Amino acid sequence: MDTPHIPVLLNETLELFNGIKDGYFVDCTLGFGGHSEAILEKFPNIKLIGIDQDKEAMEFAKKRLSKYSNRVEFINKRASEALKELKGLNISGILADVGVSSYQLDNKKRGFTFDSDELDMRMNKDQEFSAKDVVNFYDKESLKRVIREYSEDRRYKKIADFIIKNRPINSNRELSEVLMRAGLKDKKSLAPIFQAIRIEVNNELDELNKILDYSKEIAKDGTILGVITFHSLEDRIVKNKFKEWARKCICPSDAIRCECGGNNQKGIILTKKPITPSKEEIKNNPRSRSAKLRGFLFRNPL
Ligand SMILES: C[S@@+](CC[C@H](N)C(=O)[O-])C[C@H]1O[C@@H](n2cnc3c(N)ncnc32)[C@H](O)[C@@H]1O
Repeated sequence: MDTPHIPVLLNETLELFNGIKDGYFVDCTLGFGGHSEAILEKFPNIKLIGIDQDKEAMEFAKKRLSKYSNRVEFINKRASEALKELKGLNISGILADVGVSSYQLDNKKRGFTFDSDELDMRMNKDQEFSAKDVVNFYDKESLKRVIREYSEDRRYKKIADFIIKNRPINSNRELSEVLMRAGLKDKKSLAPIFQAIRIEVNNELDELNKILDYSKEIAKDGTILGVITFHSLEDRIVKNKFKEWARKCICPSDAIRCECGGNNQKGIILTKKPITPSKEEIKNNPRSRSAKLRGFLFRNPL
C-alpha cells in the first residue's frame, strides 16, 4: 500500500517491544498505521488500540489495518483524553511517535507548509483554535513567548514585532514573506518559527507530558513505553520524565535525609542513550534525521 508517511525507527521500535506477548498495545499516535501494522504482524497475540486526533489519518489506517480488524480498535481523540479511558486493561506496550505526519506536513490544504494558501496547522480539524488565532490575535507578550520558548530563535522580539505590524496575515505564504522581511533568509531559519506556532496550536508539549503521565497511570508490571520525538524540546521532556521515574528517592537534592521512603522507582530506563536512525534510514527518509527513541519498562513491585 502506498503510504503518505514512512514510519521512523521501525526496526528499532519493534526491537524495543521484543518481550511483549499478549494483552493490548496502545499506539497513541496511529498516523498512517505503519508502526501499528508492523506490531500486529510481529506479535500475533497482541490486540491493538490505535489513537489519533486526525480523522483523515485514521481513515487511511483503518483501511491499511483492515486485515487485522478483529484485533484492532480505533479511538479518534487526543491521546491525553483517550488514555484516561484505558485504565484496568492488560497493557503490554505503549508507543507515542509524536509530532506531525509527513502527510500533514506536505498537504498544502492542511496549512503547515511555508507556501500554503492556508494558515492553519491543526492536527485535529474539529478544533477551532488554529494558527490564524496565534498569528493574528495573540498579544505581543504571548507571541514573544511562543517564539522564544518553542523556536529558541534569539530574534523573537523582532519577529513578533514584524508579525504584529503586518496583520492581518492570511496564509502561510504571507507569513513566510513577513518572516523574511524580519531577516529570516531561508527555509532553515523559517522552519523553527513555523514549528513554534504549530506547537502552540496543537498544545504539543503539554500533550506529550500528559501522554507520559497517563501512560504511567495505565501501565502494569512489565508494560513497555516507547517514545519517538523529533526535536530537543520534546526529547528533554521524555528524558527527564524517565529519569524521575527511575529514581528511588524523590526528596529534594538538598534534603539532609530521605523522607520519601525511598521506594518511588517506577521501573527501568531501557535506553541509556536515545536510539537514533542509521545513516541508511536518513538517506532513504531525510525527515527521520532528528528522530530519537527512548524506552522505559514499568515494574511493580520493583
Ligand atoms: C508522526 S505521526 C505518526 C505516524 C505513525 N507512527 C505511522 O507509522 O504512520 C504522528 C500522528 O500522531 C497524531 N498525533 C500527534 N499528537 C497526538 C495526540 N496528542 N493525540 C492524538 N494524536 C496525535 C498526528 O495527528 C499524526 O497523525
